[in-house]
This record gives sequence, C-alpha cells and structure tokens, in this order.
Amino acid sequence: MVVSSTKVIYMDNNATTRVAPEVLDIMMPYLAEYYGNPSSMHTFGGQVAQAINHARQATADLIGAAPGEIVFTSCGTESDSTAILSAIQTFPEKNHVVTTRVEHPAVKNLCDNLEIFTSRKYHTTRLQVESDGTLDLQRFKDSLTDDTAIVSVMWANNETGVIFPVEKMAEITKERGILFHTDAVQAVGKIPINLKETAIDFLSISGHKLHAPKGIGVLYVRKGTPFVPFLNGGHQEHGRRGGTENVAAIIGLGKACELAAARMAEENTRVRALRDKLEHGLLTTIPKALLNGHPEQRLPNTSNVSFEYVEGEAILLHMNQFNICASSGSACTSGSLEPSHVLRAMGVPFTAAHGSIRFSLSVYNTEAEVDFVLEKMPAIIAKLRAMSPFWEEHQ
Ligand SMILES: Cc1ncc(COP(=O)(O)O)c(C=O)c1O
Repeated sequence: MVVSSTKVIYMDNNATTRVAPEVLDIMMPYLAEYYGNPSSMHTFGGQVAQAINHARQATADLIGAAPGEIVFTSCGTESDSTAILSAIQTFPEKNHVVTTRVEHPAVKNLCDNLEIFTSRKYHTTRLQVESDGTLDLQRFKDSLTDDTAIVSVMWANNETGVIFPVEKMAEITKERGILFHTDAVQAVGKIPINLKETAIDFLSISGHKLHAPKGIGVLYVRKGTPFVPFLNGGHQEHGRRGGTENVAAIIGLGKACELAAARMAEENTRVRALRDKLEHGLLTTIPKALLNGHPEQRLPNTSNVSFEYVEGEAILLHMNQFNICASSGSACTSGSLEPSHVLRAMGVPFTAAHGSIRFSLSVYNTEAEVDFVLEKMPAIIAKLRAMSPFWEEHQ
C-alpha cells in the first residue's frame, strides 16, 4: 500500500530526508539533456565536468574545506570504509583502531570484520560512553597507543543526536601522529562545521541526510593526508575514487549544500524550538517518559525518548495509523528485536531501551505537525500500557 506523501508527518529525518524541490530541479537536466561523460574531451562532456566542479566548491564551502579535499563517493558507508581502510594500509606496521561503542554499523561492522578477516591481527578499542551518551576525553587519551593507526569517532550520534568533541580529539591524535576520521553523516548541514580550523584528516558525508538524493556521499581528505583509494579504476576524482561519476546526484548534493548553508540558522532556531516543544510536551504529559542523551550537547533536530514498559515497534505501528513517521532505534538496526546497541552502551535499562522512539525533524516540519503528534502520543502510550503486563506490575 502506498501512503500519500502529502499527508505524512515525517519526523524520521535521521533515517533519510526528502529531496529538496530545488535539488530535484537542478538535477533533472543532468539526467535528460546533459548526459555527457565528464571525462570526455568534447565540450558536451566538459560542461558536465564544470557543473561537477561547481558542486565540489559548494560542498567544500559547507564544511570549510578546499574543493581539492572533496572526494565524491556512493554513500556515507563507502566514505567510512574508505577512510579506515586507507589509514590501515598507510601504516601496515600498526594494528590498532580506536572507535566508540555507539558508532553506526558502517563503522562498527567494518571494525568487527577487520578483526575477523585478519585473524585478529587488527584489534579495536571501542570506547565506552557515559549514561548521557557523551565521551570521556581522558578515557580516549588513555586508549591511544604507538600501534594506533586511526581513530574513527562520529561527530554526532544518529540515534540520540549527542555530539562528540571530535575537534579536540583530532588535536590529540595529531600530536601522536595518528590519523583521525569522523563520520559526520548526521552532523553536516545541521551544525556549523569549519574544517580549516581543525586537525581532522577524514570526514564522511551522506547526501540523503541533507535533502540530496540517496546514493551520493563525500569523503573529505585533508590536503597532505596520506591516502590509498578504496575503488581502483579510472582517473576520476584525481585517481582517488575510480568509477564514472553519479553526475546528477553530485549536482544535487552541491545544491543541497548551498541550501543547508542558507538554512543553518533556521535549523538551529526554528527547528530546535519545534524539537524542544515536542520533547517537553512528551516528557510532561506522558508518565515514565525519559530523555535519552545529553539535553544540550545534541543536534538541534533529534529527540530520543523512552516510554517505559512498552515496545517501540508497537508504538511505531500505532503512530503509523496517523501517518506519523519516526524510528525505534536506528532505521538500520530496526528489524532486530535487540534493543539498540547505542542505548545499551549508555546503560539505559532494558524496560526503557525497548520503548525508545527517535523523532528527527527537518526544516520542512511545522508547528501544526508537532501539535498533532503531541495530541496523539499520550493516548497511544496509555493504550499500549493498558495491555502491558509489565506496566501493571510496576504500578
Ligand atoms: C551516522 C551514520 N553513518 C553512516 C550512515 C550510512 O550512510 P549511507 O546510508 O549513506 O551509507 C548513516 C545512515 O544512517 C548514519 O546515520
């Protein structure tokens, strides 16, 4: 069954975002008329190469980088793999990776597999987080050794929105001659980022989290950082990523980056205020509702709330009846009945972790939508609790 998109109240923007109409408009001619290969010698292809350069500049501007530091990839996952695998090939004598216990599977599973496929030649330190999802810098410093090739720590967590001090961490690794990668898939476009002022070596972006289409990503590689390509092939991306460019998606991403820069203030004021209104309403009108994650050190659009003694999946199904879209844990981990690895790492009790819902807003959300969700949620939770033996027990 197809749900009419006009009626959907979409609060699942950390899973994916709507392609901005301006992005779609700018992409269409590159699917229909300007289909030349940007590597071709003729003018027909050359004009496409010029448009890619424009998109590269716009992408670089959003994160305070130089255009030459931008490598277009297929997604955030490819960018994460490329950075980590590049670093370990750069330092074959080193065998240690530092990351956190709350990374997205794009980093988590890569590190797990790196250990398995190399018969444990590589080992990973997965840093513990505090109960509010933040990281302790001293614990981080203590984890670094002379064998550490790379540190990979996300800029902001996809489930809770909690922001990590990656700029400070990169300063520390630089002093130790260790490369630093950050998965900034959730942070880019939501909070200001200026890489010129940091020591970060690699940074991952995913287009579909900032109103560009799915299937386009970016890996920022700081000028001078040693780099080994993941995809070998043609000379595209200055030999750093083989494969004919996903032209329309790259052009769309460039536009999305321009829009994100222009809307950054709105994201941090109007969207934040909507998120706060939603969160405050949920926490004050529904008993035993708890916020997961640090209240301030957080993305402006994300709110992760646990409703104790009810199942997240059941809540989502009831919300779905009103066409309200949100997530229980990360979209990539739902489908499993295990509570999210992020909430478990934070020590959220089992009874609360199971009933967690992530609301993630965007500039397209309205106050009327927040009011509608606040009107529906108390009754949904009350109805489910009335059927829950655990709720009964804890009264
Ligand atoms: C923090 C984080 N990293 C990486 C990814 C993967 O990005 P992509 O879907 O572009 O591969 C996601 C997607 O949910 C994410 O939230």
